[in-house]
Amino acid sequence: MQPVSFYEPVRERLEKVNSSLAEMAEQKHPFLAKLLDHTFSTPGKNIRPAITLLASNFHRHDERLTEKMAIGVELLHIASLIHDDTVDGAALRRGKLTISSLWGPKGAVLVGDYIFAASATLVCDTGNIRVIRRFAETIMELASGELQEMAETYNPEQSMEGYLERIYNKTASLFTTAAESGAILSGAPEACSQALRSYGHNLGMAFQVVDDILDFDGTEEEIGKPIGSDLTNGVVTLPTLIAMKHKACSEVVKRALESPNNSDLMCEAINLIQDDRVLEESYNFASRYCEKALDNLAELPESHSRDSLEELVSHVKVRRS
Ligand code: FPP
Ligand code: MG
Repeated sequence: MQPVSFYEPVRERLEKVNSSLAEMAEQKHPFLAKLLDHTFSTPGKNIRPAITLLASNFHRHDERLTEKMAIGVELLHIASLIHDDTVDGAALRRGKLTISSLWGPKGAVLVGDYIFAASATLVCDTGNIRVIRRFAETIMELASGELQEMAETYNPEQSMEGYLERIYNKTASLFTTAAESGAILSGAPEACSQALRSYGHNLGMAFQVVDDILDFDGTEEEIGKPIGSDLTNGVVTLPTLIAMKHKACSEVVKRALESPNNSDLMCEAINLIQDDRVLEESYNFASRYCEKALDNLAELPESHSRDSLEELVSHVKVRRS
């Protein structure tokens, strides 16, 4: 069950999506079934499949197609998290032990691959070549974003353009695909598909910027990891880039990234980034993407689904986890 009202217009269809995920483990050999069962036993927030279904609701269409797409979108997200946790050596995801910590990196990479392929199969079932191509591009963008992050780790000389490209690849790409595919598969006119595509892009950018802010402004309990983990792991995000516009802070951050094991220096850098003005400028940056997402929705006819997509923007803006 989804707790937040923005799911309301697609609640029943999302339940079908979740039942299909749970059924994926059936009739598989026992080891694969065990890994899949573990993966699907803790449902996520379903934000991406909800976007696909809400975006499809502006036009009457064959709902089986958009449900397949919504499952494909959620599976791609889940597979990328399994690979991300494997690459990061993360112990926990959604409060539970990760596949890689329970069965090792080999099992995790392979079940991640299996889920990637399962997502692609579902998207092929839509028979829409434009959507299939966009989905394949999204997989390239996800992998490219992850490689960009890896290549730039502990490098203080990063540009805002590089950061924005990285968060598009890593997060906003899939939000874009989730929204655009729902529109295309519902047979929406091009202007409507483009508005929803831009909505997904802007919402996804805001989502990742807020995620990056909460790494400094949340509590350990809210974000499920120590405050400042991104910087401690050498990942430079928006609040750090904004703080580094000030020479004194830039010097401290550079020294902290050069000696990441010096915890006093790292704490000093994190404290400087947690400055109220830095955080305010960062939140304003996210708000501008939220405003753009709302402008995109204003191009669409009024409906419950449009209200839900609007509420989703407010949810991202005030998100605390
Ligand atoms: C989580 O980010 C990770 C992603 C959004 C994408 C990860 C993508 C890959 C590992 C590439 C997948 C591979 C293929 C073949 C497509 P995060 O680490 O910032 O968030 P977290 O704190 O939830 O881990
Ligand atoms: Mg991660």
